[in-house]
Amino acid sequence: MRAQLVADFERFARALPRTWPDHVREAYAIDLRTQYLGQPVPHPIGKASGQLSLKAEQLEADAEAGLAFVVLKTVIGEDATGSRTMGAWAIHETKMKVELRSFGGRAGWTVTWKGRGWDGTLEEYLALVRFGRDLTAAGGPLAVPSVKLHLPRLGEEFVRAEYAHTISALARAWGREPLLVEKDFSPTLAGAALGDEQRRILRWIDGVPEHIRDAAPGETRVALKLMNARFDDAFQVEMLRRASRSSDAVTAFNRLWDPALGVAYGGWELSDRNLRVLREARVRGQLSGTGNVCSGRLVADYARTGCGSVQLHTMFQLPLSAYPASAGSRTARTLHKLVFDPQDGLIVAMLDAEGRGELERTAGELRFVDFGGHAP
Ligand SMILES: Cc1cc2nc3c(=O)[nH]c(=O)nc-3n(C[C@H](O)[C@H](O)[C@H](O)COP(=O)(O)O)c2cc1C
Repeated sequence: MRAQLVADFERFARALPRTWPDHVREAYAIDLRTQYLGQPVPHPIGKASGQLSLKAEQLEADAEAGLAFVVLKTVIGEDATGSRTMGAWAIHETKMKVELRSFGGRAGWTVTWKGRGWDGTLEEYLALVRFGRDLTAAGGPLAVPSVKLHLPRLGEEFVRAEYAHTISALARAWGREPLLVEKDFSPTLAGAALGDEQRRILRWIDGVPEHIRDAAPGETRVALKLMNARFDDAFQVEMLRRASRSSDAVTAFNRLWDPALGVAYGGWELSDRNLRVLREARVRGQLSGTGNVCSGRLVADYARTGCGSVQLHTMFQLPLSAYPASAGSRTARTLHKLVFDPQDGLIVAMLDAEGRGELERTAGELRFVDFGGHAP
């Protein structure tokens, strides 16, 4: 199998077939199927919300590469009059810098960017949601909208009109049930005055999923994408535990905040913290890991903490010379490395786990969902 892996890695460097998860199952007896927000997906690797999920062409390339799911760029909610409480997040900024950032003697990639949420209109966003819906229905990645909605100060009520208008518009655009939606608590929120109080943050975590469900006309599943708050690990664990109770899924955790530079960042400091908190919280349920997923071994590390899937942004944005593949979209090149790399890809990580007795075959197959014992 290891010889086959070397050969596949070389062959797929030129072109990755869209049906590669079937090949993994046939050639290695490895079943990568899992779930995101309770929906079945063919493997655990998806795209996190951001600048790489705001155009139809980007989603088409993701479908072509066989990506499992795509969380669309975060839209800023509005009420029926177009008023937005989180309007400060709808700023236009295109310049991004992909650079290395060191932590603990390891250099990891990070994207430096001053932008925030979707900067177009809600109508334009709904067109993207409809495009994603059709792509999903045609066998492409599961497309999931992401929103930012009113977050009150203590003593203030949630602005229900904003929840109602935005969520019902998304539900109409998606057009079937359940509506899946991610709610973003962004790193810029951690850097803003609104995010400086623990009681306020816990109230949001407890209340937001219910407000979204109340606003929706039909069945809705809510994932809370938590920020890395600027408090200690114990508070981060508390946030995660509360979110796993109030929501249908948790995406853990968005990037760290650098107050000196006034930017969010990733790299090894992010994955170290995320994995440390996830391990400590020992939450069971729907979890999706995000942060510095740059190898199949990192996918396995997140899976061991209970994550049934992972979401990447930075790795889809590297200079072409950073990928071992010589052709294909950045999505295809990333999947090629994450899955088939004979040194640190997901297949070899699973075979090694079998060798150590960590994973056992079921009906002859190694199953991704058995990592960390989180089979649904
Ligand atoms: C340029 C950029 C824009 C992003 N925009 C969003 C966003 O709109 N909504 C969101 O939930 N996360 C956003 N993120 C966070 C990513 O979705 C992801 O969770 C985070 O970058 C960690 O993953 P990574 O280390 O693979 O990049 C953004 C990240 C980057 C780098």
